[in-house]
Amino acid sequence: FTVSSTLKTEVFHDVAALRKYRKNLLFNNRTVGLVPTMGALHEGHLSLIRKAAAENTDVFVSIYVNPTQFGVNEDLDSYPKTWEADMRLLETLDKELAASGAGRLSVVFAPSTKTMYPTLPPDSNIPGKGSFVEMRPLGQLLEGKSRPVFFRGVATVCMKLFNICTPDRVYFGQKDIQQTVVIKNLVKDFHLDMDVRIGATQRESDGLALSSRNVYLGARRRSVGIVLNQALRKAEAHFKEGKRKRDDILWAAHDHANSVKLAQEELPANQRALFEVDYISLADPETMEEIAEVDETKGAILSGAVKM
Ligand code: PAJ
Repeated sequence: FTVSSTLKTEVFHDVAALRKYRKNLLFNNRTVGLVPTMGALHEGHLSLIRKAAAENTDVFVSIYVNPTQFGVNEDLDSYPKTWEADMRLLETLDKELAASGAGRLSVVFAPSTKTMYPTLPPDSNIPGKGSFVEMRPLGQLLEGKSRPVFFRGVATVCMKLFNICTPDRVYFGQKDIQQTVVIKNLVKDFHLDMDVRIGATQRESDGLALSSRNVYLGARRRSVGIVLNQALRKAEAHFKEGKRKRDDILWAAHDHANSVKLAQEELPANQRALFEVDYISLADPETMEEIAEVDETKGAILSGAVKM
């Protein structure tokens, strides 16, 4: 049978039915772009879906809060779940895409943990058991240093999603830049037949990157949280002025973060938003290893993390 262009988005919870749907698209020479998410959708996710719809006839969005990428003391249980609101956002976006003549949002894949981790005992709350994809040393660097199981969980769940959806292209946001490097390595190392596409970071007007976790910030931390973007912009400015040596680029970021930090520490306890710089990194774009100088042809990744 053929695929009608007026079909609305279909929600799948299981693998078999989704596979059948995917095969049918393949026989009709349609192309699939996959956008993996953990839900709590915002404009950052929507911009990736728009990009996928511009480059494919069909877009699959997965919504799954993947337990294996959360450490034991992390926010797995409190991670925002906004299914109804997510569906409304996707419905509106689907109409927008249809009106613009872009590819359509055909599938939402929302599996259970039993579906995603089929060999686990039903009451297991995971970490440790089962099959995993690991990347060394990339997975232990930067974000991986403070969150040791994070990239193992991300690579594993993405491998599963890629095998289930067999997309032509997969879409990831630059906000999580080390995640994009992990995915590029995954696709290369396992010869996965798909292109990795990266979407620009969507930000609030003051520069704070949109994130599902921004709801955790109170008003004070919300306003001080832009320190990370400001610090990186200062370092970027030195690069744009022609600086190529690590310290000549990075000092400005540390300097800015330190001055904001000191100013916060001087405020009365009920007015301040304390934070610690976790890292500010200037790294090789393929390995995320720290570099001493930017290579003109290769470029570099400037990134950072701040703990509030
Ligand atoms: P999640 O945080 O929901 O993000 C899903 C995708 O949206 C990721 O590729 C992320 O980089 C992108 N994204 C988030 N905020 C963005 C922003 N402000 N601008 C542009 N893109 C943004 O990242 C994950 O989920 C998970 O680790 C996942 C890849 C789904 C694996 O579980």
